[in-house]
Amino acid sequence: MITPATQPRICVVGSSNVDLISYVPRLPRPGETLRGSRFRLEYGGKGANQAVMAAKLGGQVAMVAKVGHDAFGKNMLANFHTCGVDTQFVLSTSQAFSGVASIAVGPDGENSITVVAGANDLLTEADIEAARAVIGGAQILICQLEVPLKTTLAALALARNLNVRTIVNPAPAQPDLPEKLYALSNIVCPNETETELLTGQAVETMEQAERAARILLKRGAGAVVLTLGSRGSLLVTAEETIHVPVAPVDPVDTTGAGDAFVGSLAYFLAADLTIMEAMRRANAIAAMSVQSPGTQSSFPAAADLPPSLLQGCACATHGSFSIQ
Ligand code: RIB
Repeated sequence: MITPATQPRICVVGSSNVDLISYVPRLPRPGETLRGSRFRLEYGGKGANQAVMAAKLGGQVAMVAKVGHDAFGKNMLANFHTCGVDTQFVLSTSQAFSGVASIAVGPDGENSITVVAGANDLLTEADIEAARAVIGGAQILICQLEVPLKTTLAALALARNLNVRTIVNPAPAQPDLPEKLYALSNIVCPNETETELLTGQAVETMEQAERAARILLKRGAGAVVLTLGSRGSLLVTAEETIHVPVAPVDPVDTTGAGDAFVGSLAYFLAADLTIMEAMRRANAIAAMSVQSPGTQSSFPAAADLPPSLLQGCACATHGSFSIQ
């Protein structure tokens, strides 16, 4: 078991939302009103989810984010505290409402999400500079695309200057991302849909997935870890392509599963596991998360995991993983 002195250190720069989740018989069509069967109010946001996942596994996690000066913002801060995430740089603004996401989940667990970024859009480059010490103190920085792109780029550039490794989850995906974003990413970690959007290539077969990942490598990513849902994940580097499968499960709600994967991947890499082993364990944790409803509440904590998933997580001081 990991002791506090050897906790993997992770910093997340990204979004924090409140998720309004409706369970529906099928995803609605344009113009249609559907009657849902259940509702959940959850803490979400891709950044916050990844931070909470890493903290639930035992990581020492700092979050850099912006929430509104409102009830949702206050509750999000309290949730970070409960989950053991450092909130020194979870800033609050009265210029916008907290971020919210309206989520519809169908019977097969698939979802459709609308995000209103609100305060997330007000996280600035100056906020990143102010958080220099927590970014520099981490072994791994995780970013996504739910805060302004220039803020994400500033965080990645700072991490590169401070010798901190980076994982970028390019979600929600946007075409025409600057090459600089890839060049500053040690690992780019998109899902299939995001990869299609980023590359303009179909990602149905493994061969197509590898081909699309190689486009992202060419743009400058150090490595690509593509998440493939029920097929597990795929590592593509300049030297190799390795498929890491996952045992099949019956999903009830896939909301945040990608975030469970990214947060776990960061934790295991900061704990000095090999990338293959980190992917195998992150696959298993994401698969556990889809078997329960909700976002962060569906993420397993260290105590819920079979000991084999936490074995050997010895954390090195510099946390260098082999992907450059
Ligand atoms: O990845 C899932 C997340 O996307 C949700 O928690 C929602 O808030 C959106 O950010």
